[in-house]
Amino acid sequence: MRKRELKVAVIGGGSSYTPELVEGFIRHYDELPVKQLVLADIEAGQEKLRIVGELARRMAEKAGVPMDIQLTLDRREAIKDADFVSTQIRVGLLDARARDERIPAKHGLIGQETTGAGGFAKALRTVPVILDICRDIRELAPNAWLLNFTNPAGIVTEAVLKYGGVKTIGLCNLPIGTRMQVAGAYGVDVDKVYIEMAGINHLNWTTRIIVDGEDVSQAFLTRAAGASGLTMKNIPDLGWDAEFLQSLGALPCAYHRYYYMREEMLEKQREELDTKGTRAEVVKKVEAELFELYKDPELKVKPAQLEQRGGAYYSEVAVNLMTSIYNNKKDIQTVNVLNNGIIPSLPDEVCVEVNAVIDADGAHPLQLTTPLRPQMRGLLQVVKAYEELTVEAAVHGDYHAALQALTIHPLVGTAAAAKAVLDDLLAANRAYLPQFQA
Ligand code: G6P
Repeated sequence: MRKRELKVAVIGGGSSYTPELVEGFIRHYDELPVKQLVLADIEAGQEKLRIVGELARRMAEKAGVPMDIQLTLDRREAIKDADFVSTQIRVGLLDARARDERIPAKHGLIGQETTGAGGFAKALRTVPVILDICRDIRELAPNAWLLNFTNPAGIVTEAVLKYGGVKTIGLCNLPIGTRMQVAGAYGVDVDKVYIEMAGINHLNWTTRIIVDGEDVSQAFLTRAAGASGLTMKNIPDLGWDAEFLQSLGALPCAYHRYYYMREEMLEKQREELDTKGTRAEVVKKVEAELFELYKDPELKVKPAQLEQRGGAYYSEVAVNLMTSIYNNKKDIQTVNVLNNGIIPSLPDEVCVEVNAVIDADGAHPLQLTTPLRPQMRGLLQVVKAYEELTVEAAVHGDYHAALQALTIHPLVGTAAAAKAVLDDLLAANRAYLPQFQA
């Protein structure tokens, strides 16, 4: 796709995360000459967009990079003729996230942004908006790649793969976060670490770890037992049990704690709700501080405080992916793509998070070198079935699919609990769920 003038559109460009992305574009400008960066947002995000946009311009100017940064409330104008469209939206803003976290908790369930009943509600709100964005891309930039960061990233990407009709790859910062943790443990540069991951977004297992050419998969499990730091900023850092890890035979991801340590995580949730409030409320405070910093005309780089957010370093992921597509690099990255037989125990047409070779044609998943053992396969199949039902519920406003989705979810688990939490979530999100009101 080598062209001289690359255009990138960021939908949800007023996000406090945007300086991450801008830093990435600046650092990789030689390989990925983004001449035009359009940050688009909705009216409610106008002020944030202006503040972030001005910081982005100062960053580019200080770095001496000729990137034209435009701000707009017109999504279609942003998308028109773009080469890459990146989506990082939050339908209903942080208030909706706070409800996603609080309502399940009221029912005695895990209340989390992407996992369980909270992530389910976020999917119902988000999928229709993403499919609208796909409609715009089909019309205005049919050759563009849609790089989706919007959570729940696996479900949203699956909806795009099934109903969007655009070229897409789903992304998350968790895989790079895991590589960084391994690199930190061995005191090596992240480039020296190769990991094989398999599963779905926020439920993937690291089945192989190679450091400096040496397979340390088993040794790392021994190191990981009880260790701190193997998590993301937004997930309590509970250590893994040694025997559990050995018998699992792979490194779980940070989000697996909600499944494998549900009672401890519920306890943490109660504690945090009593002291700090929901994660959304914590994030609101962090964001307010960040925006105060961003306003400072003397600030011309990404502030370190941004690393308090769970999505830190996502620019690495976005920029690496765009660079590899643009330069036909054929390197390996962990991405969300169509399964098509890579995980044989899942349907072909679902979205999985696996390692893939990235070239100008997109992502080509690699065969797994370590098949998923039954203990991983079983949980994966159930949660994937929940995701398939959630996509149907979100696209068609299908109450029955929604009820079945939550009933089989391991963090909900009974028909009565599913119905109760579903009805509360639908009522609280009424304004964002036109598909359920037909
Ligand atoms: C993790 C996840 C992201 C998520 C983020 C939330 O890193 O991988 O998908 O968006 O955390 O972080 P926050 O600071 O908003 O709680």
